[in-house]
Amino acid sequence: MIRALPLLLALGGCAGVQTPLDPWGEQAGRIATLTWVLFIGGHVIFVLVMGLLAWSLLAPGSLRHVLGSRGFVIGGGIVFPTVTLAVLLAWSLGVSRALTLPGSDAPLRIEVIARQYWWEVRYPDLGEVVTANELHLPRGREVELHLSSADVIHSLWVPNLHGKMDMIPGRVNRLRLTAARTGTLRGQCTEFCGLQHALMAFWTVVHEPEEFEAWAARQREPVAPPADPELARGMAAFGTHGCGACHAVRGTEWQGRLAPDLSRVGSRLSLAAGALENHRGTLAGWIAGAQDIKPGNSMPSYGRSIEGPELLALATWLESLR
Ligand code: CUA
Repeated sequence: MIRALPLLLALGGCAGVQTPLDPWGEQAGRIATLTWVLFIGGHVIFVLVMGLLAWSLLAPGSLRHVLGSRGFVIGGGIVFPTVTLAVLLAWSLGVSRALTLPGSDAPLRIEVIARQYWWEVRYPDLGEVVTANELHLPRGREVELHLSSADVIHSLWVPNLHGKMDMIPGRVNRLRLTAARTGTLRGQCTEFCGLQHALMAFWTVVHEPEEFEAWAARQREPVAPPADPELARGMAAFGTHGCGACHAVRGTEWQGRLAPDLSRVGSRLSLAAGALENHRGTLAGWIAGAQDIKPGNSMPSYGRSIEGPELLALATWLESLR
């Protein structure tokens, strides 16, 4: 069992929601193939060279002589590596090119904007659907991510779908990808962007096309004032405490653009860019102690300035926004 452990650990990395070795689409597939060829080829050559080394040390003199011949040194020391590396270079450049070539004329455009410390996601093709820390994709349709930044450098990486791409202020980088499977994948920032770099994850949800349309339609619906008195109290607290200065809620007077759009916050898989599971308890905890959970982020801790029952009503209302 102990001896099998390294093998199990190695194989355990081949499947999962955040691994380049379990490709969910063509782009990640190309990268995975390149990875395996380099990995296996490198090991084959290593074993070959070690074999030759053992031969040169252990074989009888007459055979050893072969290794010292001019032909072997030129063939094995110059021709073989030159040809091998040239072929690999040409092939990997071809793979890089294939990764940047458009697959269709009309991909779905999705804008992802890097912020300290969260991800804003906008769907201009779908009637200005806006969300945060979550990427929703239709299966089988090519999307083009337009990656920009407001105030920080992040690097977006969903390893099951594509390679990494930097998000730099003053520039728009584009990443085209097609997800071939439905399900949920984890993405992560891979560029040190400050103290909260480790808490810069996000979920990617791949839907069947019709399910994706339904999701988008739901996002576009305005938030109506709730009939339930507890929820109404929560919504009022949102106004009283000035949350709307930074956050937007569709269909209300609150249209802040500095922080995540909360129109459908209750439906999200995580809070604070993957830092917390999303439910009433963590919503309340985040409002009261955002700086304790993720120090240095732009959300203030409301602490004792909001009383328990009011905080609970606010968290309950936010949770109801699905
Ligand atoms: Cu963004 Cu690390």
